[in-house]
Amino acid sequence: MIYKAMIFYIETYGCQMNERDSEEIAATLKAEGFTETDSPDKADIIFVNTCSVREKPSQKALSATGRYIKSKRQRNRIVAMCGCFAKQEGERLKERFEGIDLVFGPQQIKDLPSLLKRVIENREQVIDVSDSGYSSSERCEIREGVYSAFVNITKGCNNFCSFCIVPYLRGREFSRSVEDIIEEVKKRVSYGVKEITLLGQNVNSYRDEKSNTDFVGLLERLNEIEGLERIRFTTSHPKDVSDRLIESFSRLKKLCNHIHLPVQSGSNRILNLMNRRYTREDYLRIVEKLRLERKDIAITTDIIVGFPTETDKDFEDTLNLVKEVEYDTAFSFKYSPRPLTKAFRELKDDVPTKVKEERLKVLQELIEDIAQKKNREMVGKRVDVLIEGYSRRVRNQYTGRTGCNRVVNIENGDNILGKVVNVRITEALKHSLKGEIIKGD
Ligand code: 5AD
Ligand code: SF4
Repeated sequence: MIYKAMIFYIETYGCQMNERDSEEIAATLKAEGFTETDSPDKADIIFVNTCSVREKPSQKALSATGRYIKSKRQRNRIVAMCGCFAKQEGERLKERFEGIDLVFGPQQIKDLPSLLKRVIENREQVIDVSDSGYSSSERCEIREGVYSAFVNITKGCNNFCSFCIVPYLRGREFSRSVEDIIEEVKKRVSYGVKEITLLGQNVNSYRDEKSNTDFVGLLERLNEIEGLERIRFTTSHPKDVSDRLIESFSRLKKLCNHIHLPVQSGSNRILNLMNRRYTREDYLRIVEKLRLERKDIAITTDIIVGFPTETDKDFEDTLNLVKEVEYDTAFSFKYSPRPLTKAFRELKDDVPTKVKEERLKVLQELIEDIAQKKNREMVGKRVDVLIEGYSRRVRNQYTGRTGCNRVVNIENGDNILGKVVNVRITEALKHSLKGEIIKGD
């Protein structure tokens, strides 16, 4: 415990895996005696946890790092960069940022204490982005008043979608052992967590060889944990959604009625170029089966517009698919070429920026219209809401989420933090719902 006086700050970009990685970094450092702050001004060590999935978050993380390195002139501090962009650039970051103290990749979190020791004690500049492998056991920081938590089940990805840089940066798929996952979930539940979201690039391909457990097997084990009320997972790859998984949505009572199922495009030609390994028809069949199994299931997705060679007709196919599925909500992005990927190596980024922007606008308007319609359909319904905290806008108003992952602000109720309450939806706002607790049930 030699670092008691040192204060650290973590700035996180990107996906939920990065958020979870930042949590683990914090837990690791606290166990070593460091203290966390939420203000960069107060920090002796600053971590920028970067994302590289698209051009925009990469640039953001890069300029944040530049700013913090400049601030070293006013204040003697350590600046570290980690995450996917750090892994991508590695040694090159030395040239870009002379003053960078530490660079490490997603596989080095387990080695952080020894890396940091070299920086602090030897004043070394340390760059380690090697493929040293992931550890099945993970640290988690247990906090009071946290009712929903992320739990990693797999890391890395074996799919090589042609647009995606993740497999090159996070490495080959690795599944944590069932026992480690269950131990972590039980520990979190003993500190008050009611809902877990299982994380992985493609959770459906989870497999623990030693105990011969697949993803559905894992869900079954987690469903039995006493005190745990809700299970979610993200992300699912459509090619690996089995009938067994689909029927889990009615069989496993703790499984929430929501699935995030990235489609990426509605055109078979583009899906093939993307190396997604399903057709539009396969995808629609899965959606149909999911809805037959659980009528009220919410389906959300990711879509890319302007993938190389995408024509107006291909884009029309995407719009039609969105209309047909009627997503509860969707994330959509302009294609951006990423180094190392097959699309970058073999296809010209030939859809003009202006066309990408126009398509994105049309798509986002459609997604928004459908989302609003679906939100309005919730009015009058009775739903279970896990109360996670207080609304940011209205003081003393509780807020939580439905099983279908919609935010609900509750207008009545006392002492309900961390509880699942039955609520009637009274109003649909743009990005949330209002509701009241049903009394006398
Ligand atoms: N360009 C645009 N969007 C991308 N995504 C991944 N790679 C790219 C890229 N090169 C999107 C996909 C994925 C989400 C996390 O990010 O839609 O599902
Ligand atoms: Fe990337 Fe495809 Fe793997 Fe998702 S499944 S992380 S999009 S390669």
